[in-house]
Amino acid sequence: MKKQTLIYNGKSKQIFATESQNFVIMTYKDDETAYFGVKKSVIPNKGMLNSKISSLIFQYLERNGIHTHYVEQLDNNEQLCRRATTLPLEFIARNVIAGSLSRRLDIEEGTVPEQPIYEICLKSDALRDPMINGYHVVALGLAKEETLTQILKIMQQINSLLTELLKKSHIDLIDFKVEFGFDSEGNLMLIDEISPDTARFWDSESHEHLDRDLFSRDLGDVEIAYKEVLSRLENVLQNG
Ligand code: TYD
Repeated sequence: MKKQTLIYNGKSKQIFATESQNFVIMTYKDDETAYFGVKKSVIPNKGMLNSKISSLIFQYLERNGIHTHYVEQLDNNEQLCRRATTLPLEFIARNVIAGSLSRRLDIEEGTVPEQPIYEICLKSDALRDPMINGYHVVALGLAKEETLTQILKIMQQINSLLTELLKKSHIDLIDFKVEFGFDSEGNLMLIDEISPDTARFWDSESHEHLDRDLFSRDLGDVEIAYKEVLSRLENVLQNG
């Protein structure tokens, strides 16, 4: 399938129409942003690395019963995906306190809560993705109650599957953000990406960041760390 018109141009990805109504091509950019676009840079090979990392993760989730938009990797930084009707929501799972939650509630980063924490944000750069709850989602017509229930159950499954996969790669899954949409038959599916740009990955032994915080907090070389994540995942997934 070939790229046709650009239908979405985001901070880190572009979505192109294809000759089929049911499929799109998603391309990952090398652009890196933090703090809602306030801090910007271009990181060589980042698009390719995130595309490959997210491909491996989406294929692993598919094999384990999670319906996703992923079809196949086309080029280094391009994927063929099922076209989705998207929900204007972001779902966050947290296994360890970090980032905005640490700041908001003044809890030390690295604190392990008694159980994972799930959050919902309204997808809006202008409003800086405000956190909302399930009552807002249903009352404001952002998603049906049954959809929300289904998503929260899938979030728990994704969290368990990813935690297990990353553990084998000697990475602790601190938190991650995902999005959902519906396929052409109205089935709920995981969309967007799961990569070190949308999750916190800490090395299990050293607790060093292997994620976007390297960029946002000027902690080290992003390209080297993302390459390390890809090679550890390839080792676990491709070489058993
Ligand atoms: P969070 O701690 O809320 O925000 P920040 O990264 O600004 O400190 O983020 C939790 C996780 O969700 C983290 O892995 C980054 C990811 N995330 C995104 O990918 N995009 C977003 O717009 C937000 C708010 C979070």
